[in-house]
Amino acid sequence: MTSLTGKVAVVTGGSEGIGLAAAQRLAEAGASVFILGRRQSVLDAAVKEIGADVTAIVADVSSQADLRSAYEAVQAAKGKIDILVANAGVQNREPLGDITEEGVDAQLAINFKGVIWTVQEALPALKDGSSIVLVSSGTAVKGIPNRTVYSATKAAIRSFARTWANELKGRRIRVNVLSPGPILTPGLEAGFADPKVKEAYYTNVIGAVPMGRPGEAHEMGEAVLFLASDASSFMTGADLQADGGFTQV
Ligand SMILES: NC(=O)c1ccc[n+]([C@@H]2O[C@H](COP(=O)([O-])OP(=O)(O)OC[C@H]3O[C@@H](n4cnc5c(N)ncnc54)[C@H](OP(=O)(O)O)[C@@H]3O)[C@@H](O)[C@H]2O)c1
Repeated sequence: MTSLTGKVAVVTGGSEGIGLAAAQRLAEAGASVFILGRRQSVLDAAVKEIGADVTAIVADVSSQADLRSAYEAVQAAKGKIDILVANAGVQNREPLGDITEEGVDAQLAINFKGVIWTVQEALPALKDGSSIVLVSSGTAVKGIPNRTVYSATKAAIRSFARTWANELKGRRIRVNVLSPGPILTPGLEAGFADPKVKEAYYTNVIGAVPMGRPGEAHEMGEAVLFLASDASSFMTGADLQADGGFTQV
């Protein structure tokens, strides 16, 4: 089994969904884990659920100041970061014709700028030889309707990984992408309040997954662990598509 004993991991959006599953798996493997999110109550519940060496920090990834003070807290407690998972992201569904400036700005602030700040502000704390995992999405390479802005921000993340893998190779820092397919999480399921939306999603999106089902968050936790650990020691600049074949077949 992969051991992360002695490693320090930071997971943005580590209080729910894929981030929580990643934090759980990294903690099980022995890492000291810091989870970042905006809502204290959700972070507190996640800390209880993980139950191991985990610390919650309230921080919004769209704020460089929040990230700076979060990383200062990690440095003060542990002196370094070995694993950084830039997972926090939001999704608006808006058809072309209804896209608003607010919707564009909100998604850019978190999914695009937030990922840049997450990595840039961490640079002083990141140890040479550390591993960065950026969470993109299968939508980056699929033309899913109503996802103009979201999908474009996720495609940008794929590009960030290529650039940063080169920029950080001198420090032996690996940068890889995880591109999940449809995964049952609070974020995804929040969109299912309207049964028609859920039905259309299952027909159009899950129906296009060769494995015939949505993924589960714990399956993404395993993929993050792989990319974060030495199990993927010869990978950088790569995109791991954990999506039941959605983008591959
Ligand atoms: N679920 C899917 O089907 C799917 C598929 C492909 C890719 N993804 C990507 O995977 C990532 C996680 O998705 P998910 O479905 O697990 O989402 P989720 O269930 O909505 O959880 C999102 C997490 O991110 C945190 N978060 C959101 N905005 C934040 C911000 N500005 N600063 C700090 N934390 C923030 C949330 O906590 P707070 O709200 O308290 O901040 C929460 O912990 C996202 O990047 C998403 O785009 C998801």
